[in-house]
Amino acid sequence: MKVIRTIAELRSEIQDRQQSGYGPVGLVPTMGYLHEGHASLMRKAREMSGTVVISIFVNPIQFGPGEDFETYPRDEARDVALAESEGVDVVFIPAVQEMYPQPTKTKISVAEITSLLCGASRPGHFDGVTTVVSKLFNIIKPDYAFFGMKDAQQVAVIEQMVRDLNMDVTIVPCPIIREADGLALSSRNVYLKPEEREQALVLSGSLRTAQEAIQQGQAATAGEIRAHLREYISRSPLADIEYAELLTFPELVPVEDSYRMVDGDSPVIMALAVRFGRTRLIDNALIQPKVGGSHV
Ligand code: PAF
Repeated sequence: MKVIRTIAELRSEIQDRQQSGYGPVGLVPTMGYLHEGHASLMRKAREMSGTVVISIFVNPIQFGPGEDFETYPRDEARDVALAESEGVDVVFIPAVQEMYPQPTKTKISVAEITSLLCGASRPGHFDGVTTVVSKLFNIIKPDYAFFGMKDAQQVAVIEQMVRDLNMDVTIVPCPIIREADGLALSSRNVYLKPEEREQALVLSGSLRTAQEAIQQGQAATAGEIRAHLREYISRSPLADIEYAELLTFPELVPVEDSYRMVDGDSPVIMALAVRFGRTRLIDNALIQPKVGGSHV
């Protein structure tokens, strides 16, 4: 496995591997502090690609003022060892100066679906994401790029960008990976104090019990499901709900409280962002239309 820090060297390595007939290039973009969720993306990339590249770059332009850019957890040696153990071919670890030798005057901005959910509380965040992801796509020219569904809005935004700009890459969304007790894996989970970690289970718990309520016919409308999510999360005294929303996916159109899903509808996503002290956690689950009946 090669660890590469410059764009020029990365381009030449990928070109060499293409000329040697390694086949499709798979990219796993990350901000490092890798966990089992990232490992699952690397494994999927390994399955589908002849060359697997992961990038590790804490991208300053997707952090707002007062957010955790400076303190975002970093552990390069551990990340490189994990990537190697997952059979990655190339780890790209550029310095900020390499990616942004001068402040970027060009930004990629996806409209509308970036102004709600995480975009509402983190203005400019998704412009930072789409700009850096476009740069990585231009540098690496991957055939496939792998993203975790924990950041479902990010997946929808990147897919929209790829469609709108005719980018020649297939986005592969991968399932959320959870701890045994249900907490969705995130590099930011390390910020949680023990009591917050315990109470953070209300995110996955609210999603799981909402699915059960839907299946048992106890929640039939979007309004009832929203109420269920909010009531369940509010049982945790430390939880501060930023949003608990239901939207069509991947269009990200909020559904009315009276909405009931019928056959042929888009899936609906239950999307959560909840703060525990200084830690902001997100989680989500999709509700698929039930064949032969209506349930939401
Ligand atoms: O999901 C992330 O870790 C980041 O937003 C990404 C896609 C690597 C862009 O910096």
